[in-house]
Amino acid sequence: MSKSIKHLYADFKPEHYVLQLTPDRDTMKFTGTVTIHGKKTSRPSRRLTFHQKNLRVTKATVIRRQKKLSETIKVDRINNHAGCDEVRLHTEQDLYPGEYSVELEFSGKITPAMDGIYPCNFVHDKKEKKLIATQFESHHAREAFPCVDEPEAKATFDLILTTPKGEPVIANTPVHSQKHDSKTTTTTFETTPKMSTYLLAFVFGEMDFKETKTKTGTIVRAYATPDNTAHTGFALDVAVKCLEFYNDYFGLDYPLEKCDLVALPDFASGAMENWGCITFREQCMLVDPKNTSVGTKQFVAMVVAHELAHQWFGNLVTMRWWTDLWLNEGFASWIEYMAIDTIFPEWNIWTQFISDEQQPVFKSDALKNTHPVEVPIHHPDEIRSIFDAISYQKGSSVIHMLHEYLGAKPFREGLRYYLKKHQFSNTDTVDLWAAFEEVTKKPVRKFMQAWTSTPGFPIIHADVSGDSVGLKQSRFNLAGPDSTHDHQIWPIPLLSSEFDAQIFDTSSLQSKSTSTNKIKFNANQAGFYRTVYNNDHYATLARRLESGEFSAQDRLGLLSDIFESSKAGYVPLSNAFSLLDSYKNEQNAAVWDIIAGNLVEIRSVFGDNEIIRQKLKPTIARLVNSELKRLGWKPAKNEPYFDTLLRPTILGLAASADVPPVLSDISQRFEAMKLPTDIEPDLRSVIWGTSARNGDDKTFKKFIKLHNSESNSEVRTTLAMAICSFEQPHLIDPALSMITSKQVRLQDITYWVAYSFANRHAKEKTWKWFQANWKWLEKNIGSDLSF
Ligand code: BES
Ligand code: ZN
Repeated sequence: MSKSIKHLYADFKPEHYVLQLTPDRDTMKFTGTVTIHGKKTSRPSRRLTFHQKNLRVTKATVIRRQKKLSETIKVDRINNHAGCDEVRLHTEQDLYPGEYSVELEFSGKITPAMDGIYPCNFVHDKKEKKLIATQFESHHAREAFPCVDEPEAKATFDLILTTPKGEPVIANTPVHSQKHDSKTTTTTFETTPKMSTYLLAFVFGEMDFKETKTKTGTIVRAYATPDNTAHTGFALDVAVKCLEFYNDYFGLDYPLEKCDLVALPDFASGAMENWGCITFREQCMLVDPKNTSVGTKQFVAMVVAHELAHQWFGNLVTMRWWTDLWLNEGFASWIEYMAIDTIFPEWNIWTQFISDEQQPVFKSDALKNTHPVEVPIHHPDEIRSIFDAISYQKGSSVIHMLHEYLGAKPFREGLRYYLKKHQFSNTDTVDLWAAFEEVTKKPVRKFMQAWTSTPGFPIIHADVSGDSVGLKQSRFNLAGPDSTHDHQIWPIPLLSSEFDAQIFDTSSLQSKSTSTNKIKFNANQAGFYRTVYNNDHYATLARRLESGEFSAQDRLGLLSDIFESSKAGYVPLSNAFSLLDSYKNEQNAAVWDIIAGNLVEIRSVFGDNEIIRQKLKPTIARLVNSELKRLGWKPAKNEPYFDTLLRPTILGLAASADVPPVLSDISQRFEAMKLPTDIEPDLRSVIWGTSARNGDDKTFKKFIKLHNSESNSEVRTTLAMAICSFEQPHLIDPALSMITSKQVRLQDITYWVAYSFANRHAKEKTWKWFQANWKWLEKNIGSDLSF
């Protein structure tokens, strides 16, 4: 797997590209020419090499540019080398180090794989239409034009596109000029700033847009297919606010004149931060009050904030090589919360950071075969396979911890210094740590190294009695304590004002405190570790929980720490259930996520053991009882945001515990439903999921019919969840066979497979289906190794 490669940038450093492309939507082919101006820096040789993949380079001219005269050097042979994504130009003469201009003519195919140049299908006015779009990260620019396709090879670009006349065409920078002939328009875009190839982008086809401006005059537009333009307002509004927030936070203004957001009907991931031309999966950008749940609306805001953060962190300053991609993504996944907290303070988004980012990744990082945040990438083909929760969520969690360790102001100052120093250039992760060290004088490199290069995370055993406190740390292991292997030591920020020691970086520590009854380590769960206490101290903590002393983060942290530790065998499960008693009056949605998650997981550990499943039901029903009464089915007027988020969780738990009035309400609502819009967006998951679990052939048919005529991508996904949730064995195969049918878009396959695996009645069949269809999967989504 790990094929190490030589970087082409070592030999040739591009400075400026003039790229002309003519994509033809009818033949699904494109032709182009590119002139690459740059410097050859390696020893004299008779070869120049560029990246290309699935292109045919048909003509090549090499010009040596010298002060007085330029000299054309004859190219003997063009070798389109498929095996290593290269085109090699062999020359008659030696090529000495110096300035060159290389002109290439090439052609290629527009294929549906959702990378390189690809089509997006949609229906408008009952006619089938196509947008043509690009996705170049991580190494797909080479599928569109020959180039040095490495993040370090930053250059400026003049893009010239020939496209059908009368259709909008957008790229990274504003239009410089346009020329029309009878059928086509040739658009020249303004020269881009110095940037990496993976950030180049364009889209053309039938789209409309909404437009506004930031305070500093940046023009912001949100594009979508004609029927969806009405739903772009929310993303547009968030984008403007984010740009203004980041201008201020980073202390550097967004450097382009405009910023476009584009919702694409077919999209491989969630969104892509192309500089000035950000592309999105439709359900990550569009908000339609009739169809969008609060959760999805919040997610749209988060995705917009994430991609806009990259305009600085990633685009202006870029990792030298893919090994440091975790920092790019981890950082954006953290600062998106900072932006959203400023824009929507009522969302209490930092609480959700703990429940949605940090807590889930603890689960995978507790496995023996987890991997460190920093993993060397030898070939960009490897990126998708390690690009998982560890990079995004553990990455953002350790940055969160660093922010807490340094303090908000020094952190921001370090960051401003880093961006200013390295703008329009490339860095390694240690350049960021170095910037923080210079500004804060703290040993950031050493601190962060421990958290990013060691797999897993620690658990602290705290023994608090009288005025003494004993601490021990070891690696948290889901398979149970392993005293022979779990010796790693982390520098743990204790985050407790009742305690003198700041960083706990030995295997054990004995200390005294005058206020031991006030001790709760890891304030607001900002540190990436778990803590368990002795029983007496849990009794104290329980009293404090009941008197409402703790923040939501602390409440969810205490509960999650004890449940996960009991699942791993560090403390008895009964202790976890006793602590749960102190959450009788819990009203916070994020804390309830933890409660619900644990109950569901414990139930699933017992799999098909019907006795235990039945016995858990009354416990769950009792737990949700008071919130069920308080929230009901209908939102109260001006209810707090977290209540709206909580309602589906409570109803879902109640339905899973067969609470009779909830079940009958669900079936009434489902029977009465003719169209998806007959049910409030927030309640669709619960009503459809429950109806499917208990459903028969008639129910199945109803879902399939709704799915196949639905054009909204969020609604389709919720319907897919329902279709994959049936318990009756004969309804599982038809759900699985939908996946390979025309009814499911390539971009949505992953949802279907994940939902089917999540259904305990379908698990076995899904695994068999998975094996039988492996060839098909490989052919259709083979480049997505995350699968
Ligand atoms: N740059 C990534 C998308 C990406 C990463 C494309 C690696 C190709 C290779 C983008 O910024 C991103 O992180 N998108 C996320 C959504 C985000 C809100 C977490 C995604 O697509 O899932
Ligand atoms: Zn990202």
